[in-house]
Amino acid sequence: MASIAAGRPQDIQNERGNPHWTRPPRADALDPIPGTDGWPLVGTTITQLADPIGFAERMAARYGPVYRTRSFGRRMVNLVGADANELVLFDRERIFSSEQGWGPVLNLLFPRGLMLLDFDMHRLDRRALSAAFKPEPMRNYCALLNADIARGTQSWGAGAAQTGTMAFYPAIKALTLETAATSFLGLPLGPEADRLNSAFVDMVQASIAPVRRPLPFTAMGKGVAGRRMMVAYFTQLLRQRRADPGQDMFSQFALATRDDGALLPEDLVVDHMIFLMMAAHDTITSSMTGLIWQLAQHPEWQEKLRGEARAAAGGDARPLPFEALGQMVLTEMAFKEALRILPPVPATPRRALKDFSFGGFRIPAGTGVGISAASIHADPAHWPDPARFDPLRFTAEEVAKRHKYAWVPFGGGAHMCLGLHFAYMQVKVLVHHILTRYELGVAPGYAPAWQAWPIPKPRDGLQLRLRPLL
Ligand code: HEM
Repeated sequence: MASIAAGRPQDIQNERGNPHWTRPPRADALDPIPGTDGWPLVGTTITQLADPIGFAERMAARYGPVYRTRSFGRRMVNLVGADANELVLFDRERIFSSEQGWGPVLNLLFPRGLMLLDFDMHRLDRRALSAAFKPEPMRNYCALLNADIARGTQSWGAGAAQTGTMAFYPAIKALTLETAATSFLGLPLGPEADRLNSAFVDMVQASIAPVRRPLPFTAMGKGVAGRRMMVAYFTQLLRQRRADPGQDMFSQFALATRDDGALLPEDLVVDHMIFLMMAAHDTITSSMTGLIWQLAQHPEWQEKLRGEARAAAGGDARPLPFEALGQMVLTEMAFKEALRILPPVPATPRRALKDFSFGGFRIPAGTGVGISAASIHADPAHWPDPARFDPLRFTAEEVAKRHKYAWVPFGGGAHMCLGLHFAYMQVKVLVHHILTRYELGVAPGYAPAWQAWPIPKPRDGLQLRLRPLL
């Protein structure tokens, strides 16, 4: 999922052209909020993009937990802390629009995805789509994931045997796309899946492109062409799935109904499916890479998880049954800790629909508001020695002691990640197949640089040493 905290100047035109969107407040309405406008013209954009997490830390240290920035051509307000996360994500008083927060980033490419709907419209569609995540369909996806992941991870050994290392990030990205073709769309692997995958990669790339108009040869031009192709293809596929449903997620969405029993309209199902692939893909790739990086550095945790994986599946490199997922307790804790250290969606944007107060400041309707999972996850008040990898922070006793909104990699409230159980399942199946086949390591002193934006990613692909165990 692309994750940036604000839109760009061109998008403000879109917002103004969109009659039901709340207009931004006058720029001087935010003068009382402490913060900075940054440099002339570029504002805080370049400083923020160069080091988003360090920038947020410096701003909060200097101005406090409510601070103003001016990135991508407009002022916005950032709220820091667990109470701020609760206010914005739980949104008891229906103050915050997700559609108008994410829209400037995503609405040209992923219109009408769940994150781009608010309140009653959102609730209706979310309820219909939730059918695809009930136990029976999840059991089917689990079988499909096991088959793809067994084949994919087995093939890594040959490459690593020649060079001794493999670049983990591109390998897990390719494998996650393959599993998405099978378990989300019900497509066999092959040229068709490849064509869709490259259209999809173009769309994700375009969502963060600096030139927002779909001109030929620009990333946005390619992204919009990718979307056109996907809409045409998915519409046809939807008709097939309605006539002859399979075990895949698209078939579940195809048959999803509203409260009155009516099927969702064709174009809406297609948009939801395209959005969902975007929401699932980079997030799983990034978080799995973060977990493997930690395990490669912590052989003692690798050994614990390997033992757990063997016990849960009854042996090495076997399918991990759906019923055994609940036994992967340490794996789940280690994954949660990896998500804390490197949340794939580091910041979440919203726009205030009403005036509201927080931390002693009045913030006017129309203001872009951002909260940050990356900031709260690094706060020593909730996480002593925050850089240390320690899955035991997620025992039931430790969790009960903490503020509920101190750990928010999946968001919270009405827009809480719909695919979080799918993500846990896929990661457990991956961990099982990887750790029972290989011992993981890295070269002494190896410390890859991580790109923080738009999604955490090791710049060199994460050079992993694999020693086959079978
Ligand atoms: C580790 C992996 C993942 C992470 C960290 C993650 C994170 C998130 C976050 C933070 C949100 C909320 C954004 C907001 O409130 O503005 C979200 C929403 C969403 N995610 Fe995930 N996600 C992950 C995997 C997945 C997967 C695998 C799927 C689908 C199979 C998925 C589907 C969705 C959908 C549909 C939404 C929108 C929900 C709504 O607006 O009601 N995600 N995700």
